[in-house]
Amino acid sequence: MAKLIDGKAISQAIRDEVRDEIAAGGIKASLAVVLVGNDPASTVYVNNKKKACEYCGIRSVSYELPEDTTEEKLLSLIDELNNDPEINGILVQLPVPKGINEDHVIEAISPMKDVDGFSKASVGALSIGDKGFVSCTPAGIIELLKRSDIDIDGKRCVVVGRSNIVGKPAAMLLLRENGTVTVTHSHTKDLASITREADILVVAIGKPEFITSEYVKPGAAVIDVGIHRLDPEKNNGKKLCGDVKFDEVEPVAGYITPVPGGVGPMTIAMLMKNTVAAYKMQH
Ligand code: GUN
Repeated sequence: MAKLIDGKAISQAIRDEVRDEIAAGGIKASLAVVLVGNDPASTVYVNNKKKACEYCGIRSVSYELPEDTTEEKLLSLIDELNNDPEINGILVQLPVPKGINEDHVIEAISPMKDVDGFSKASVGALSIGDKGFVSCTPAGIIELLKRSDIDIDGKRCVVVGRSNIVGKPAAMLLLRENGTVTVTHSHTKDLASITREADILVVAIGKPEFITSEYVKPGAAVIDVGIHRLDPEKNNGKKLCGDVKFDEVEPVAGYITPVPGGVGPMTIAMLMKNTVAAYKMQH
């Protein structure tokens, strides 16, 4: 039976730490939250980010732009926010509508305000061990491990998935913590033989319940980044699942994150931490 890594409780503890730090330090941090269009999932994420800001005592300034916003218009807003001393962090919720180039948007955000850590400057800094913003989901994974007393130093870490937002930065962070890291992906041959070597297995492939027990070494720490909607009527009332087949892997693993309530809540908690770090960097 695996020990459950409680992302809900850990993320709450981080939000409380951020709130206490803000209150004690007279910090007046503010985050610009930009949503273009009305994608329902993005709307939920953005609202949760604004709620977390309110909880922590961060001022959130919301920009809701229509679906047909031009790239030029969005880039001009980002430019304005870059130059506004009252704004410490800028978050443009992704994906942006077709017709707007995501790379242009990410690169337009000043590295000093890039609280998502998606820009080339932030990613480059992470890969050479320089200071800079680390993207929130991978940073959250490291916090989950550390706060569950799972030592990374010297451990075999296997990351399944190589996205710019999760897989690659998660690998860089595990490496920074002195893990021995292997990154696997859709072209990897005999994936299970590699994942079975992992003491720490981070799964971010976007395939529902892909990782079954034969992929997992007994006692391993399994971090599931996936989140997929299920039809509750066909799944015994279950509404969500991850990339890991929880019921099958849980008896084998030493530690496991549930979905929901594992990695998910950590992303927003780390965004709050990054926003305070941005404020401090700018003052
Ligand atoms: N879309 C999905 N995840 C994220 C995230 O962490 N940040 C932003 N800006 N957009 C996202």
